[in-house]
Amino acid sequence: MKTYQKVYQESIEQPALFWAKQAEKITWFKQPHQPFKLNSNGTAHWFEGGTLNTSYLCLDVHVNNGLGDNIALIYDSPVTNTIRKYSYSELLHLVSKFAGALKEKGLTKGDRVIIYMPMVPEATIAMLACARLGLIHSVVFGGFAAHELALRIDDAGAKAIITADYGIEIQRIIPYHPIIEKGIEESTLKPEIVISFNRMTEDVPRSEHFEDMHSLLQAAKPESYVEMASEDPLYILYTSGTTGKPKGIVRDNGGHAVALRYSMEAVYNVKQGDVFWAASDIGWVVGHSYIVYAPLITGATTIVFEGKPIKTPNAGTFWRVIDEHKVDVFFTAPTAIRAIRKEDPHNQFYKPEMTKSLRTLFLAGERCDVSTLEYAQNLLQKPVIDHWWQTESGWPMLANMQGVEPLPVKPGSASVPVSGYNIQILHDDGTRAEAHEQGFVAIKLPLPPGCLPTLWQNNERFEAGYLSRFPGYYFTGDGGYIDEEGYVFITGRVDDVINVAGHRLSTAEMEEIIAAMSCTAECAVIGAADELKGEVPLAFVVLKDTEVRDQGTIRAEIKDKIRTEIGAVASIKTVLFVERLPKTRSGKILRNILRSLANNTAYVVPGTIEDALVIEEVKQLLEMRMH
Ligand code: COA
Ligand code: AMP
Repeated sequence: MKTYQKVYQESIEQPALFWAKQAEKITWFKQPHQPFKLNSNGTAHWFEGGTLNTSYLCLDVHVNNGLGDNIALIYDSPVTNTIRKYSYSELLHLVSKFAGALKEKGLTKGDRVIIYMPMVPEATIAMLACARLGLIHSVVFGGFAAHELALRIDDAGAKAIITADYGIEIQRIIPYHPIIEKGIEESTLKPEIVISFNRMTEDVPRSEHFEDMHSLLQAAKPESYVEMASEDPLYILYTSGTTGKPKGIVRDNGGHAVALRYSMEAVYNVKQGDVFWAASDIGWVVGHSYIVYAPLITGATTIVFEGKPIKTPNAGTFWRVIDEHKVDVFFTAPTAIRAIRKEDPHNQFYKPEMTKSLRTLFLAGERCDVSTLEYAQNLLQKPVIDHWWQTESGWPMLANMQGVEPLPVKPGSASVPVSGYNIQILHDDGTRAEAHEQGFVAIKLPLPPGCLPTLWQNNERFEAGYLSRFPGYYFTGDGGYIDEEGYVFITGRVDDVINVAGHRLSTAEMEEIIAAMSCTAECAVIGAADELKGEVPLAFVVLKDTEVRDQGTIRAEIKDKIRTEIGAVASIKTVLFVERLPKTRSGKILRNILRSLANNTAYVVPGTIEDALVIEEVKQLLEMRMH
C-alpha cells in the first residue's frame, strides 16, 4: 500500500499542492490565482480566478492537438440495430452547430436547459452544446414521469427543453412529447423553447409546437465557446433526498474538470485513445461523469449504449459490445451483472475471447454483494473493482485506484479512500468509531474538487442536509465501517433514500404521494432486499376506517399513483395493509424496525405491548408475502 498511502497522504496533508499539480493537466484560458479558498462553512471554493470551457476541454483541445480523427463516441444501439461512430472533429462540428442553434434561440450564459432524452448521441451533443455556451443543463432521466419533470422545470427555472420523439424500453416505444407537454402543463414556469430530436421511424404522437433538432442543426452556424469562471455552474442534476422535493446538485466547471481528469488517470487507469464504457444512462451522475465528460476530457473513446444488459437481444449484449469495440475499461452497476447471471446461468452467451481487450470491470451505484463480485471475477478472470460514490461527489470517494497502485480486493468493501476524501466513521455523537465499529460515513471538510459546492438556489438546504449533522464534516447519508487496514465497508443508507436497480429514489417522496390519497390514514415506505434489484420499495399502509373498497383495488391504485407521479422506475411491488404502524413514544414511525423485519435482520422490540403486537402483525404479513 506504500504508493497509494503516499499519494493519499499528500492529497490530505497538502491539498493545495496536490490539486495545483492536477490542475496543470487541463487547459485553462486564465490560470487560477490559487487552488482553493475556504468558505466560512468549511467547504472550499476551487480554482478561483481560473477560466475555462468544459466543452472546449472535451473537444477543441483534442482537435487542436491533431487528434481530430480519433473516435470520440460510439453509439451502439441494439434496440434500433445501429452502430455509429463520431470522430472528435465530427463531434466538435455538431456540438458547435447545435450551440449556434441554441444561441439563435436567444439562450445565453447562465440560462437553464432541461434535457429529457434517451441514450442517443444527440443527448451528448445537447449537453456539450449547453456547456459550450455556458447554459446550465439539467438532464432528467427518461424513466421519470411528467410530475418529476415539472418539479425540475420549476426549481431550475428552465428556459428551454431538449427532448426526443420517443425512447425505447427493450421493445416498448415510450413517446416523450406527451410527457413533456404534461410536464409543462403542470409546471408554473412555461419554457417556451422546446427542441426535439425526432427519429421519425415510429408512429408516435408528436407536438407541432416543438422544433426539430435536425432542421435547427442544418440551418445553424457553428458557435465558439464562452469563457467560464471556474466556479460557474456547468450543470444541475436533481437527485432524491429525504423529502418529496428532489435536490438540485450543482456542479462547477473548474473543479469538475480537474477531478474527472484526475479520476480517469488515478482511479480507472484510462488514457487518451483507450475505449471506456460506462453502461449507465445520461440521466444519472455516472452518465454525466463517465459517459460524457471524463472520457472526452481524457481524449478517450466513450460508448453511448442504448439497450439493457438483457433482452436486447440477450444476456450476451455487454460481452458483444466489449468485443466489438475493444473496450479497455468497463463500468456498470452490480444489478446489471445480477440480471445477466439470472438470465444466462450457464454463461452460454459468454466466451472468454469476447473480453480479451478488457483490463478492469468497475462496479458502483449500489452495494455489491459478495456473490455478484465473485461471479464477475470468476467469469471474467480480470480485476473487478467495487467503488463508491454519489451524485453529490460526482466522482469516486472510495476505490481501488488502478492508476496509483492496485491493491488486493476485499469482497464486501468498496475499497479505500480516494485522494482528497478524508473519510471517517462517526458515532451518533460525532466521536470517531474504532476499526470495525459501525457508524455514519462522513468526510472531513473541505471536500476535494468536483464535489457539489451547494444546492441550486438553496444553500440553506445544502448546509442543513449535509453540513449540520456533524460540524466540520460532510454527511454522506451512508452507514459503514472501516477495517484495520483502512478498507471501508458501506452497509447502506441511513436515511430515506433507497437504491432500486441502481436507481436512487426517495421513500419519503413515495410516502408523501400515498399519504395524499383519500384512502390512507398513515403509511411508511422502506427498502426491502431484492435478489435482482438490490432493493425494492415496500409500502405499509393503514387505511382510513371509512374505506370500504377491497384491498386489491386500493393496492392497484397505490401502485399506479406512484408510477404516474414518479415514474416507471419507482414502481412499488408490494403494498401491505396493517392496522397500525410501530411508533416511538413521541409518535415517530419506527422505520428501522420495519426495515429490519422486511430484511430479516436483528432488531430490538420496543417497550410497549401494543408495539410488540403491531410488530407481530407486520411479521406475519411479511411471512405470508414470502410464501
Ligand atoms: N424510460 C422509460 N422507462 C424506463 C426507463 C427509461 N429510461 N428505464 C427504466 N424504465 C422502466 C422499465 O421499462 C420498467 O418498466 P416496467 O415496470 O413497465 O417493466 C421500470 O422502469 C423498472 O425498470 P428497472 O428498474 O430498470 O427494471 P428492469 O426490470 O426494466 O431492468 C435491470 C432491470 C437490472 C436490467 C436494469 O435496471 C438495469 O440495467 N440496471 C442498471 C442501472 C444502471 O446502470 N444504473 C446506473 C448506476 S451506475
Ligand atoms: P447516486 O447518487 O444515485 O449515485 O447514489 C448514491 C448512493 O448509492 C450512495 O449514497 C450509496 O448509498 C449507494 N452506492 C453507490 N455506490 C455504492 C457502492 N459501491 N457500495 C455501496 N453503496 C453504493
